[in-house]
Amino acid sequence: MLFLETLAGKAQARMPIWLMRQAGRYLPEYRALRVKAKNFLSFCYTPELAIEATLQPIKRFGFDAAILFSDILVIPDALGVSVRFVENEGPLLEPVTADVIGNLSPARVREHLANVFEAVRGIRAALPRETALIGFAGAPWTVATYMIEGRGGTDHEKSRALAAGHPELFAQLMGVIEEATIDYLLAQVEAGVNVLQLFDSWASSVPQALRRQAIFEPTARIVSAVKVKAPQIPIIGFPRGIGLDLARYVAATGVDAVSLDQSVDIVTARNALGRHVVTQGNLDPVLLADAPEAAMVSARAIMAASSSTPHVFNLGHGILPRTPIENVERLVATLRGGA
Ligand code: CP3
Repeated sequence: MLFLETLAGKAQARMPIWLMRQAGRYLPEYRALRVKAKNFLSFCYTPELAIEATLQPIKRFGFDAAILFSDILVIPDALGVSVRFVENEGPLLEPVTADVIGNLSPARVREHLANVFEAVRGIRAALPRETALIGFAGAPWTVATYMIEGRGGTDHEKSRALAAGHPELFAQLMGVIEEATIDYLLAQVEAGVNVLQLFDSWASSVPQALRRQAIFEPTARIVSAVKVKAPQIPIIGFPRGIGLDLARYVAATGVDAVSLDQSVDIVTARNALGRHVVTQGNLDPVLLADAPEAAMVSARAIMAASSSTPHVFNLGHGILPRTPIENVERLVATLRGGA
């Protein structure tokens, strides 16, 4: 698989491509499939639907990797916390209290998420042999912010207050998420995924003084626990918005590759990371949605900057639901030398 060879550090004649959130609302066939489930979580937990949604972008664009159709918030759901997805509002959770945190148990993760693993088996069996299958989870900080705040957001005041003001309670919550995540990722590997990605989408809100406890150490423990049992599976980290701490993140966590958001300059990031670190991402999803000419210029610049360094083509964050299909088609053609 081209994707696995690039992750192993081998420079390739062609750069592999996949897009974060490539299965989703920008695809008309996803919107048509989505109405078949009464809510988003039951969509994730219905293997036939999750399998089909995962395959849709592969059938349409021939990406080099598929990403399991699921969500990072299946972990709080498996821990017994109420999770709902509200149209146009995003996820809403019952914010955890000290009592709830004290009673969370990671013991039921495999049982609760059995249908997700069944979907993985079905997807792997249906995918072309050359297409890699990516499994994933949210990193503990990002998942914890949803459990503490009860919703998405950018500043995470309650989460920062808990981490700094009640470090033992925060550590307890992070520990349960970490344990559940290790189990969840290993079960995905056993079911057939080829690569893992850890989404720390809200790493940006962790103050410098908390980065060790909230980002580096939990991620390092997850990476090493997964590697003990599955040393052959490459792990991509995505510490979104971490800026100058990218190199520290890679060194501290042991990830095999790092996904770059659009806020960093790819050449500067590479110089800081060193040549042995495989990179991914960096194209601003806003350009792909709203400024396709600029997106193609930026895509060519990313390719030019990666002629001697292994890089996985991707966006700096998830594809936006308003992205026109033809912009994605043009991007794939640009990458494969057709435009
Ligand atoms: O194509 C893929 O990437 C596979 C599936 C996938 C989803 N969510 C499906 C989804 C993946 C990898 C995720 C990860 C995820 N989920 C992250 C990390 C990546 C990122 O975007 O930062 C986060 C923070 C979440 C939490 C989440 N799930 C939010 C904030 C939302 C609402 C906002 C939004 O983007 O829609 C979701 C819902 C969600 N997850 C949808 C999909 C396709 C849309 C809901 C629907 O279709 O009804």
